Amino acid sequence: MRRIYLDNNATTPLSENARRSMRAIIELFGNASSMHKDGRLARQAIEKARANVAALIGAEPSEIIFNSGGSEANNTVFNILAERDFGNRNEIIVSAIEHPCVLASAQKLEKKGWKVWHAPVDEKGKLRISEFNKVLNEKTALVSVMLANNEIGTVQDIAKITQLAQKAGALMHTDAVQAVSKIAVDVKDLAVDYLTMSAHKIYGPKGAGALFVRTGAPFLPLIVGGHQENGRRAGTDSTLGVVGFGLAAKMAKNMIEKYQKIAKLRDELQRQILKKIPFTTVNGDGSLPNTLNVSFAGAEGESILLALDEVGVEVSTGSACASGDGKPSHVLMAIKADPELAHGSIRFSFGLDNDMKDVNYVMRVLPEIVWKLRAISTVKIGDKNE
Ligand SMILES: Cc1ncc(COP(=O)(O)O)c(C=O)c1O
Repeated sequence: MRRIYLDNNATTPLSENARRSMRAIIELFGNASSMHKDGRLARQAIEKARANVAALIGAEPSEIIFNSGGSEANNTVFNILAERDFGNRNEIIVSAIEHPCVLASAQKLEKKGWKVWHAPVDEKGKLRISEFNKVLNEKTALVSVMLANNEIGTVQDIAKITQLAQKAGALMHTDAVQAVSKIAVDVKDLAVDYLTMSAHKIYGPKGAGALFVRTGAPFLPLIVGGHQENGRRAGTDSTLGVVGFGLAAKMAKNMIEKYQKIAKLRDELQRQILKKIPFTTVNGDGSLPNTLNVSFAGAEGESILLALDEVGVEVSTGSACASGDGKPSHVLMAIKADPELAHGSIRFSFGLDNDMKDVNYVMRVLPEIVWKLRAISTVKIGDKNE
């Protein structure tokens, strides 16, 4: 059976170029910290990758710290606050729709006495700047707002938020895991102090990522006990992961135009869903070109996912009950989605391998799946949502 992969925000497949670069390096077993030839060769490969990753976001190579991925990068930023004296600055602002690894990192600091504000977003997922300004003050040490949301794909005006944060004397971090390669990301334009990236969202390998730290920005390592990454991240360099990431970053430089074409597929799927399946709501504002999050009233997201999987279509639930506690997603709650609708939401996240045939196939199978589930649902639809 043909498989149609529409879960690229969860992860992307390894690109052929990244795979080739990793195959070539797999025999290069030297420790990049060793001074002999094998070590030097590994070091060269890592520094080449660093230059590619830096170039992708307009950074200096020295501003890139390689690590295990987005979760580690986000944890690292919050750990700086935990370990460093910020004087009277003991407040943090995060947006209400951050990735769980940011929210959990902030919560850890809250337990240590930090004040954490969760800045609200509007019904499309955009940060409410006026509300943000109300909690931003001379006590704010860090503002952390993601560039693009993983569930609904809303893109924030980070340059503007950075300007406000820095005017108040706060440090600015953005989680750009979902944005890099899909939209223009340049640290000079964004002017952020810290930026998070992950290789497996840009057709690189899993378990590799980077944190951009602006030259001069406060920093303390999360993982200590080694001089690697200039003393900023201990542990023997993962040559394989870094080289794959570097190649993926090189290829990602030219992806924005391709994602603009992908947006047309996404828009067509959205158009057809809204036309052919009544009682549906689109969550988010469509600003990330590949992401479509839709709530289907009267149908469970998980049931839709499993039924689509059976006919070869791979998606994820927008309500991502990843915690297993059955609660609707914090992102959908933050945009004030109806909790019942939130349970019926599906995220379609397109990638570079998709085409219009995929959209047409989804539309051949999806309406019937939704109607069958609605027929056996106890939830009555039609009174609140069309
Ligand atoms: C917005 C965002 N931040 C962070 C992460 C975590 O990245 P990683 O899987 O590399 O740890 C993800 C992954 O889903 C993400 O979507």
